[in-house]
Amino acid sequence: MSGHWLGVDLGTSGVKVVAVDDSGDVVATHTCSYPLQTPRPGWTEQRPDDWWDATLEAVRAVVVAVDGAVTGIGLSGQMHGMVALDRHGEVLRPAILWNDNRNAAECELQVERVGGLDALVGLTNNAALPGYTLGKILWLRRHEPDVFERTEVVLNPKDFLRLRLTGERATDVSDASGFGALDVRRRRWSSDLMAALELSESLLPPVLESDATAGRVTPEAAALTGLPVGTPVVAGGGDSVLQTTSMGIVSPGTLGITLGTAGILGAATESCPDNAGGRLQISCGNEAGRWHVMGVALSTGGALQWWTNALRALVPDAGNATVTELANRSPVGARGLRFLPYLVGERAPHVDPDARAGFVGLDLSHDLTDFSRAVLEGALLNLREIRDVMADAGVATDDVRISGGASAYPVWRQTLADVLGTPVHLVTGGEHGAAYGAALLAGVGGGRWAHLSEALGYVVVAERVSPDPAAAAVHDASYAEFRRIYPALSTLRTP
Ligand code: XUL
Repeated sequence: MSGHWLGVDLGTSGVKVVAVDDSGDVVATHTCSYPLQTPRPGWTEQRPDDWWDATLEAVRAVVVAVDGAVTGIGLSGQMHGMVALDRHGEVLRPAILWNDNRNAAECELQVERVGGLDALVGLTNNAALPGYTLGKILWLRRHEPDVFERTEVVLNPKDFLRLRLTGERATDVSDASGFGALDVRRRRWSSDLMAALELSESLLPPVLESDATAGRVTPEAAALTGLPVGTPVVAGGGDSVLQTTSMGIVSPGTLGITLGTAGILGAATESCPDNAGGRLQISCGNEAGRWHVMGVALSTGGALQWWTNALRALVPDAGNATVTELANRSPVGARGLRFLPYLVGERAPHVDPDARAGFVGLDLSHDLTDFSRAVLEGALLNLREIRDVMADAGVATDDVRISGGASAYPVWRQTLADVLGTPVHLVTGGEHGAAYGAALLAGVGGGRWAHLSEALGYVVVAERVSPDPAAAAVHDASYAEFRRIYPALSTLRTP
């Protein structure tokens, strides 16, 4: 079968659609954005109808660009979000997102009900994280019982798009892993966990491998988008997993680092790894028989964005370039100023929704250039700590590939190589992120490529950035200090 393969990636700030041809080249792309609501501090929500409207616009634009020649579609999207739907498939309330922290009590409940953290990790191979979907369902049951009563199924964001495109309820193994209710070793829902929480398994959609066909475009969706009626839609993947996959990583040996709002470290494994203490996120991989180890820092590019916004009080037109330019004027090590990036709590290297950020080591000599460098270095030293947790878990961490918005800035690339003390590599196609992987999955499902590994043969190293030994030595010393700050500050908290 030949044609164009569409990849749709439903992000937090917008949806991106790409069209990939039979040679693996991106021939068209379109992005549309939508707002985020924060009804209370720590709460984040979006309207699924806003997602759908933006997706229709972006898909229409790409379909026009390829003259309607679309052979298959793959879906990717922000993970963990909860879309509650009634029996008619109608949205019951705004979606609660991956970075919403309202369900700490419901995470504790999960641990209690199964008899401790080890027992929970035994069932799902994951800890109960406030980001995960399951705690949100329990929150809904407790705080909005009338909505919960009317909820027939809960879908993750990209799977809501699938429902609108094909009429089918389904998810894929990688997104399902981020529900917090999947037995990741066996690639199926954990009936024991659902029973312990007195939740019906019928709330959960069927789980498919990422390249499996999970529905076909309905006449209604075809009329709205210009897509051919009956175009197959494959299951796809959760964005963080698929983003790493899209860097060509489906086999062990390479560590992927995505420098987005969050900083995501991911690697592929050939068997399901243990997750002692639940410090990492373990997910099924996008290829059958593969798994995925992931550590997510919630504020990486997000920390720099916060600092940029803060600077606007002084420099009204400050942007990311302003901050990187300021950071470049401070010496490596920021004259001893350290920054802890836990602005919205943290998931890795510390599972701690209540962690908070801070500057430490300030003296009279520091100015805004040092603050700017400290934010950049602190965000990346935090990623080094996750890298070390992953290395302890047996993940190979010497061969590093990077992608994500901040990887476009030379100072980020160089500082990351210096902080890690290893070369980092940019890859072709990396700028298209998870949307690219979603399109390749569509091609695998449609028979253009036999396996995802074959399709990923198009992804090759485009640029290598080597660490500067002198800078790396300064960061080694900063890191030794950085690691001691979080445990020390934690002792100051009021119980
Ligand atoms: C991954 C995670 C985020 C979201 C949003 O665990 O929480 O990366 O997927 O992109």
